[in-house]
Amino acid sequence: MHKQLLLKRRHFLIGLGALTGMGTFTTASQLRHLNLLDSDISADPSVALAAEAIALRASARTKGLLFGAAVNYNNLSSDQAYANLVAQQCGILVPANELKWQALRPSPSQFNFTRADWMAQFARRNGMLFRGHTLVWHNGLPNWFAKTVNKQNAEKFLREHISRVAGHYAGQMHSWDVVNEAIDPRGQRGDMLRNTPWLRFLGPDYIDLAFRMAAEADPRAILTYNDFGIEHDTPQAETKRAAVLRLLERLKSRGTPIQALGIQAHLFGHPDGVNFTQIRRFLRNVADLGLEIMITELDVNDQQLPRDPALRDRAVANVYADFLEVVLDQPAVTAVITWGISDRYTWLSSTKPRKDGAGLRPLPFDAQLKPKPAWQSLTSAIAQAPTRPSQPGLPTPTTFADIQGHWAQRYIQALADKNIISGFPDGTFKPNAPVTRAEFAAIVTKAFPKASQNNASIEFVDVSRSFWGYSAIQTAVRRGFLVGYPGRIFQPSQQIPRVQVIVALASGLNLSSDNTSVLSYYQDATQIPTYAMNKVAAATQRQMVVNYPTVRQLNPNRNATRAEVAAFIYQALVDADQAQSINSPYLVQV
Ligand code: XIL
Repeated sequence: MHKQLLLKRRHFLIGLGALTGMGTFTTASQLRHLNLLDSDISADPSVALAAEAIALRASARTKGLLFGAAVNYNNLSSDQAYANLVAQQCGILVPANELKWQALRPSPSQFNFTRADWMAQFARRNGMLFRGHTLVWHNGLPNWFAKTVNKQNAEKFLREHISRVAGHYAGQMHSWDVVNEAIDPRGQRGDMLRNTPWLRFLGPDYIDLAFRMAAEADPRAILTYNDFGIEHDTPQAETKRAAVLRLLERLKSRGTPIQALGIQAHLFGHPDGVNFTQIRRFLRNVADLGLEIMITELDVNDQQLPRDPALRDRAVANVYADFLEVVLDQPAVTAVITWGISDRYTWLSSTKPRKDGAGLRPLPFDAQLKPKPAWQSLTSAIAQAPTRPSQPGLPTPTTFADIQGHWAQRYIQALADKNIISGFPDGTFKPNAPVTRAEFAAIVTKAFPKASQNNASIEFVDVSRSFWGYSAIQTAVRRGFLVGYPGRIFQPSQQIPRVQVIVALASGLNLSSDNTSVLSYYQDATQIPTYAMNKVAAATQRQMVVNYPTVRQLNPNRNATRAEVAAFIYQALVDADQAQSINSPYLVQV
């Protein structure tokens, strides 16, 4: 045991070396004073200063990572010193209980968002992201649930809950734990789904259903499946990892809108240190599914560790270091969130108290709000982590009042961010309004300023030189987006049907396909005009078609809405390698 602890201490110091190399000018000298081997670091004022100077939220950010914590309303609203620490250290805030059914729903017909809204405002005021926990869970249900919800009404309750709650925070949530803890390897089922009221009422599809409902209510949030017991090198954890992976694979293969796995990481301290070798492969497999990974509820249970606080703190810190070294090495891991931040308030003190009555020490700050060795482990693990390709940002401020929760919100927002589309002077976007041909020409030329084609220009008999859209229409014609207008008639004020938008984009991108059999994916394939079939087939194959509300229903001859044009153009930009694909349950993927 002794040897292992010594080794761990050394790697601890290496971590600090990396940290001082980070170029944070105030910290290098402050950290030089630290003597981790001998002193109680929380008593060292220079460490407290360092924790302030290089708050976890800031050091995480330089690596493209998020650091944050889950906290309770009661503590945050009543303890100013604690609230200051949370604001100082956390770039993302999670209400630990306030978004659970029990907290939100005093009766079957009532919703009470007061506390959760207060926390959302706290996050906003302090420039933090806000994370939702949790829409579907077998625990945290109100007393009326068992008496009220049954097989007949369960889907209605689930739908209402998700649309009300996720809809309430639409556009403000960084991510949502849509489903929490659905796997239980102790059960008899082959798929290892936990025996919950939701499973009993709705069958295994409740998970898929919940994600679809969440995507509809808040298309911007990163939709997450969250679970525990998948971290340690034990046979039980290995079994559970396999079951979770199978669930994720099943969801992905069905096109369920899931974007992330949350690993709770309620870890266990051990005096001899802890290995985390088996989780590596699991993380890679999850990343290979195209999922992001977040560490969502990190703490280290010190219930079984020796009483001496300094020894305990080091053992806990070693587990933090060992775990984070492995998980942060996987670039798909984008966030580290602890369950609580200071030992002053930890859920373990009621659920897992020590036999000797000593206070638990599972978190990075002690009960006096001073940084502990576990804080140091976090700081050095983050400093050593490879930089993530994209910095997590605050959600872009929504520019339009009327796209919150709209199915095309993310497409519209993304195009607005690129300055390709804009709204109306009253701050709205009017996503469901139609689009004229002239307006479409104006948008498409903005989206593709450098299209490669150079077609002959056409002087349309019904587009005068003084018409506002004249030059956009000319440009769109030359770039190959507007083809086949017999008699030089353009009808600029006519509303453009969906099929013409698709044909225009496919033409501009030079796409066509003889394999029109893909069109049979659409229930209404027979309505596609013959002239459009090759282009629609090509656009379908290249994932440029987005069908709301029914993904298999193309509605080719219905007039396109502004939202639909935004979605099509956005996906055309993705095809042209000029944007990152946006996951949507309405995106046709054949
Ligand atoms: C816990 C809270 O911290 C407690 O205050 C509450 O009494 C019970 O729930 N995994 C989860 C969290 O997903 O929701 C749990 O939170 C901790 C375990």
